[in-house]
Amino acid sequence: MANVQDKVVIVTGAASGQGAAEAKLFAEQGAKVVVTDIDERGEEIAARFGGRGLFVRHDVGDEAGWGEVMRQTLDRFEQIDVLVNNAGVFKPASLTDTDVPLWQLHYRANQLGVFLGMRAASEIMVKNGGGVIINVCSNAALNNVPGIFAYASTKWAVRGMSKLAASEFAALGIRVNSIYPGIIDTPMLGQNSAEQLNHYKGMIPMQRLGTPDEVARLVLFLASDEASYITGAEVTIDGGIG
Ligand SMILES: NC(=O)c1ccc[n+]([C@@H]2O[C@H](COP(=O)([O-])OP(=O)(O)OC[C@H]3O[C@@H](n4cnc5c(N)ncnc54)[C@H](O)[C@@H]3O)[C@@H](O)[C@H]2O)c1
Repeated sequence: MANVQDKVVIVTGAASGQGAAEAKLFAEQGAKVVVTDIDERGEEIAARFGGRGLFVRHDVGDEAGWGEVMRQTLDRFEQIDVLVNNAGVFKPASLTDTDVPLWQLHYRANQLGVFLGMRAASEIMVKNGGGVIINVCSNAALNNVPGIFAYASTKWAVRGMSKLAASEFAALGIRVNSIYPGIIDTPMLGQNSAEQLNHYKGMIPMQRLGTPDEVARLVLFLASDEASYITGAEVTIDGGIG
């Protein structure tokens, strides 16, 4: 298993789904884990990690809040090695049915949050001599998926930002990779109608949903030194959707 012993890892949106699975796996593998979320259930998750866990209530679209996440992480654990930009929202709607509040909701959580997170963490990582950033993107940023205009737009933006950041930070020792989950069995799927969900399931060659634990194992590998020459990569995890 990839070695992350004593690394300090921040996972955003870690109160639920994939983020919670990633936080748990990092803690099991000996990392110190900062759980952030707007959902207070993150407190309970971090508490399970004892002295190796910390919860910070944070909306990833809040710029000043990122300063607070960095400050509390450094106060408790003295460094930041890994940032997983996982938090996200998903509310399906076509372009025609997307109003400005729906657009802004996706922009704030899925896109602005990733930019602010990369900027805040990289400042510390440069001083530390390096680090790893993993951006959770989506299969919707690789394909033309109709009916999810705002969501897919933000994920296409994250795909681009990940490439740009990887090249800007490569010589500074910071690796930036993005992952592309297909359809993963988390509470987020509840946003789909039964009809939509069946349609999506029909697209999976492996004929089953992915699990949060499967995504967590990919994130763990990319975060570890075993992935030391991997940056700017776009890694799919989607049962073969492609
Ligand atoms: N589930 C899937 O099929 C799927 C597929 C592709 C990509 N993704 C992406 O995976 C990531 C994790 O999603 P999930 O499937 O675990 O869903 P989830 O709904 O279980 O978890 C998302 C978490 O993000 C948090 N969050 C939302 N807005 C936030 C904000 N502004 N600030 C901080 N936290 C916020 C929520 O409170 C929640 O805990 C998301 O970026 C999502 O877009 C999910």
